[in-house]
Amino acid sequence: MLEKDWWKSATVYQIYPKSFCDSNDDGIGDMKGIINKLDYLKNLGVDVIWTTPMYVSPMMDNGYDIADYYNIDPIFGTMEDFHKLLDEIHKKDMKLIMDMVINHTSTEHFWFKEALKGPENRYHNYYIWKDGTPDQAPNNWASKFGGNAWQYVESLGKYYLHLFDVTQADLNWENSELRNDIYKMINFWLEKGVDGFRLDVINLISKNQNFPNDTYETAISDGRKFYTDGPKVHKFLKELTANTFGKYPGSLTVGEMSSTTIPHCIKYTNPNNKELSMVFNFHHLKVDYPNGEKWALGDMDFKSLKNIFFKWQVEMEIGNGWSAVFWCNHDQPRIVSRFGNEKYLKESGKMLGTAIHFLRGTPYIYQGEEIGMTNPHFETIDEYKDVESLNNYKLLLEKGKSIEEAIAILNQKSRDNSRTPIQWDKNKNAGFTSGTPWINVAKNYSTLNVENSLKDEDSVFYHYKKLIELRKDYKVISHGDFIPMYEENTQVFGYIRKFENEKLLVLNNFYEDEIEIEIPKEFIGKKILIKNYKDTLLESHILKLRAYESLAIYLK
Ligand code: NOJ
Repeated sequence: MLEKDWWKSATVYQIYPKSFCDSNDDGIGDMKGIINKLDYLKNLGVDVIWTTPMYVSPMMDNGYDIADYYNIDPIFGTMEDFHKLLDEIHKKDMKLIMDMVINHTSTEHFWFKEALKGPENRYHNYYIWKDGTPDQAPNNWASKFGGNAWQYVESLGKYYLHLFDVTQADLNWENSELRNDIYKMINFWLEKGVDGFRLDVINLISKNQNFPNDTYETAISDGRKFYTDGPKVHKFLKELTANTFGKYPGSLTVGEMSSTTIPHCIKYTNPNNKELSMVFNFHHLKVDYPNGEKWALGDMDFKSLKNIFFKWQVEMEIGNGWSAVFWCNHDQPRIVSRFGNEKYLKESGKMLGTAIHFLRGTPYIYQGEEIGMTNPHFETIDEYKDVESLNNYKLLLEKGKSIEEAIAILNQKSRDNSRTPIQWDKNKNAGFTSGTPWINVAKNYSTLNVENSLKDEDSVFYHYKKLIELRKDYKVISHGDFIPMYEENTQVFGYIRKFENEKLLVLNNFYEDEIEIEIPKEFIGKKILIKNYKDTLLESHILKLRAYESLAIYLK
């Protein structure tokens, strides 16, 4: 029998199928490719695999624009391949959670095509329509991919809402027929035996029905307050859960929460509310957005990073909520290049791993993170593929940035930084494909790759493997309380975890400069569970942390 909160001691591994492993040499990763690499993931030790969307899609947003929820896109394989994948994952005693995008569909979806036929059509009201004239959008909300969030349809004299790309039309959750169709579809996958879902931007499904204008006084007053954690979001989530995964005990649900708040995340995840198992929030990944602006160069604001973690950790615990903890995913640049240091790839890669894996929450690893993959440092715009990056590149040039400046910003901020193929070995295209990869491989693959990492016992890979193991062995990691430490320190991210009579002190130097700190005396001479320098000693209460040095000390 599964414990009801089994995911507290589990680690989730995210696969971006397009860039994982290509079995048929068309340059695009696929399900057979994933199956071929399951032994590798088993060796790493992860418990759950999350695959980003593999449903039929025109791929304007790499699958987050679903055209048919009930079928697998041929670029990834067939439904038979899917069954085989699920089966193989289960045979290896791992679980599979699928990505579910139910805030919007592709405009290629049958529902949208029907909706275009007009208000009498059954599916018209599945989307959000407002009257207007070609030169006057219903309100000033911005699309998250740039520009206004409304698209005019001349034949209807109406606009539809798209918070993302113009080909991703927002669904109208106010409509119970739509909601029931969504539940039916989710149950179709649950019946196949999937173990849960990652729910895409799920806190955006309830829009303020007055659709008010925003002020544009700051980078975030762009309409989001009127649809983020909206008026009926908890009601909708409770209903969704009760009609679908709530009937499958032990299924794991993780909600992607855009621009959310702690009180809402407590409501989403406190078990009494019967909404979701856990949530992603992104506040800690905006500490390099100057004044909240993503598309500008910015350094990490370490003080904010710490404050955000501390606040979320402490308050989620008080409210009995549960977080997914992570640095990387397919929307975020590589963490070693971002908050670490490529010159200290091993040290900073391991330190960042320790810093996140010992927080209170379920850790997520994004493919390639476990070997310390870096940003690819693309040099020209042709190398970029992502719709958000291409839109913002254009906007940056329109705003007067030079090509060099715009590329420098994309180098730091583009989602493509994390979407380059996994570097399996030193062979052509890093062993990802023998065809032409859909996106270029990062140039450092000949040395930084899985094959080399497995041969090197000091690699980032083995550090991650150990982090995953420790979570299973120590309740203080999976279930302990969180206590912030060194709050004023400008270099060290430190904290204590506490469970019954066990304590864990976690220390991470986020900088190249050495720093001396004092540790509580009770930890002197105690067991170091994990470290990233071989010769770290614990002989006194004064500890000198070297460049990106990190360690976790355990006492009982
Ligand atoms: C969040 C997903 O992670 C991202 O990749 C996607 O573009 C948007 N949601 C829209 O679905």
